[in-house]
Amino acid sequence: MQKNVSDLTYEEAQNELLFLANKIHELDIAYHRDDAPLVSDAEYDRLKHRNMDIEARFPELTRPDSPSFRVGSKISDDFKKIEHSVPMLSLGDIFTEDAVYAFVDKIKRFLGLGENDPLEIVAEPKIDGLSFSAVYKNGLLYSGATRGDGSTGEDITNNLKTIKQLPLKLQGETSLFDIQIPNIIDIRGEVYMSKKDFFELNKSQEEKKQKIFANPRNAAAGSLRQLDSNITAERKLSLFAYACGENSSNQFKTHYEYLQTLKKWGFPVNPEIRLCKTTKEMIQFFNELSEKRSSLDYDIDGVVYKVNDLELQRRLGFIARSPRWAIAHKFPAEQAITKLLNIRIQVGRTGALTPVADLEPINVGGVIVKHATLHNKDEIERKDIRIGDMVVIQRAGDVIPQIVQSLPEKRTPNSVPYIFPTHCPICGSIAKKEGEDAIVYCTGELICPAQQIEALKHFVSKDALNIEGLGDKNIETFFNIGWIKNALDLFYLEENHTLELICKDGWGTKSAEKLFDAIKNASKISLERFIYALGIRETGTATARLLAKNFVSWEHFYTSVRQENALDILTQIEGIGPVMADFIVDFFQEPHNQQLLEGLTQKITVLDFVAPQQKETPFSNKTLIFTGTLETMTRSEAKAKAQSMGAKVASSVSSKTDFVIAGTAAGSKLTAAEKLGITILSEKEFQQMLDA
Ligand code: IVH
Repeated sequence: MQKNVSDLTYEEAQNELLFLANKIHELDIAYHRDDAPLVSDAEYDRLKHRNMDIEARFPELTRPDSPSFRVGSKISDDFKKIEHSVPMLSLGDIFTEDAVYAFVDKIKRFLGLGENDPLEIVAEPKIDGLSFSAVYKNGLLYSGATRGDGSTGEDITNNLKTIKQLPLKLQGETSLFDIQIPNIIDIRGEVYMSKKDFFELNKSQEEKKQKIFANPRNAAAGSLRQLDSNITAERKLSLFAYACGENSSNQFKTHYEYLQTLKKWGFPVNPEIRLCKTTKEMIQFFNELSEKRSSLDYDIDGVVYKVNDLELQRRLGFIARSPRWAIAHKFPAEQAITKLLNIRIQVGRTGALTPVADLEPINVGGVIVKHATLHNKDEIERKDIRIGDMVVIQRAGDVIPQIVQSLPEKRTPNSVPYIFPTHCPICGSIAKKEGEDAIVYCTGELICPAQQIEALKHFVSKDALNIEGLGDKNIETFFNIGWIKNALDLFYLEENHTLELICKDGWGTKSAEKLFDAIKNASKISLERFIYALGIRETGTATARLLAKNFVSWEHFYTSVRQENALDILTQIEGIGPVMADFIVDFFQEPHNQQLLEGLTQKITVLDFVAPQQKETPFSNKTLIFTGTLETMTRSEAKAKAQSMGAKVASSVSSKTDFVIAGTAAGSKLTAAEKLGITILSEKEFQQMLDA
């Protein structure tokens, strides 16, 4: 007979909690990963309750891997940030068989391998969910994070803990024959919602008259990013592990071996994963998986190919934000046929009139599509798309669905050609094309409410002022009741409308305060964000950054763009062409804009541009030349490594050259360098400096 919890000694309780943590974990794995329950639900619940009861009596004995953490914990106000010690990168995309061959060829060339030399590649389903990082210290789950911007993610530790497939403690250690557990390891993978759980969730949401999710990916995202982890705990989330961030050990030689170990540690690893020896096998895997796709209980959107050998992965390194050693081979866009019910015009921030198609709702690859973009006037005419037509629509990933073509053979006499408006449907101003552009623009500019609303939405958006709590709906409401007509009004919202806001449906003191705080927080902003926020035509985040980098301060920028020779000043910047420059100059010449800016800069502190600190390396800002043949790496590999450490690589020797790296059979460049007294490095010395 089991003792009553009230009769347990401290030591007995400690031992039993250890036993229960291991036991319940074993049961979780059997149930959630292997789909093979070992005990009845009632017995499982009994063990969990026993664990909770013991913890309630001896709270100080609660283990970090306790199963009670699986039920969620208290609500927090905001997610804390977690910096990834190794960035979480994204993958390049390819869509064709030829591109798979090209991917493999390029890797072989980079590594100096022959065309027929073997190269093992692991092919994995590309799971359509959200990536996570789970850091384990001495085998215990320490923290969990989302990908975020790749460098910093959100702390979702409590939420991840509620996913029963995630081990709170890595299995197997101690014995000599077991796989050792590193002191620190960051295990990465994808959280997803199975199709079955997604349909069940939506059914229950519908019954409760709550939000219906568009697809399993959104449902998974909405469930994982919950400030109240009790909600996450109620949702059924699953995961697959497939990658590694920081790892304090270097026990693995290959990715495949790592995946096998993950399974032993208790992680679900996708059962479809295959080790391929040839490019043909990779393509065969892709084709087989496409066939199998609809029968899988989770969404996938392609295949990820990864070089198996971890040393080769290290040598291959990264280009920008993606690894050279991996790529995503995406499935082609999914298509379906449906009826075009209506064409509506949306007016954007720049006044562009965009036709939007209202469709008879249709399921395209698991997502209900109701609208599609038609791009512009010419496209409707070129494709002869008429209201009432049956049309082929396609959707790929998160991209807005498109109309590929209409089916004239199915046309009825009721189908009518669409007449594109000659006036803005919102403000009634004339709408016309500009130059060669296929887009029709409303000429109403600042008097057009649609443009004003869109400009406001842009101003507060994530890459601009990033004011949380001011979503599209709120902007529209506040605009329509006249509280905010332009960006400056935002900064008077608290002064002028606090009482009205608090009394508004869905608002209260707390939410209003939160919004005002968000607005206050946004009133100190970097120059690049501020320039982007202005919504100048053709000025996206990259151009805004370029401008900020060149002009450094708002004062300098604002003066320069209003000078007579502003066009010349702007076009001298590499990356700013005459069209862009025109838009920028026009924007700052507009008296309304000047007036708005004078007001805004009274309320907002625009911070000077600060260039990100690049880590100093022996090659920072140095010019290198390679000559002769390198033994341990190819020329492209050496070049890429040097560049990643801040070097410029040139092709001919001059007085500006800092180092010449001389391989075997170096020729005239070496002689020239010797004459100029330039430092010459052997391959070994170069390697040592790279490793420094
Ligand atoms: S590997 C350095 N493997 O795809 C590469 N990613 O665009 C790390 N994804 O953010 C990723 N299934 O969310 C990898 N088997 C898989 C994947 C996978 C899905 C997602 C992941 C990542 C995105 C890359």
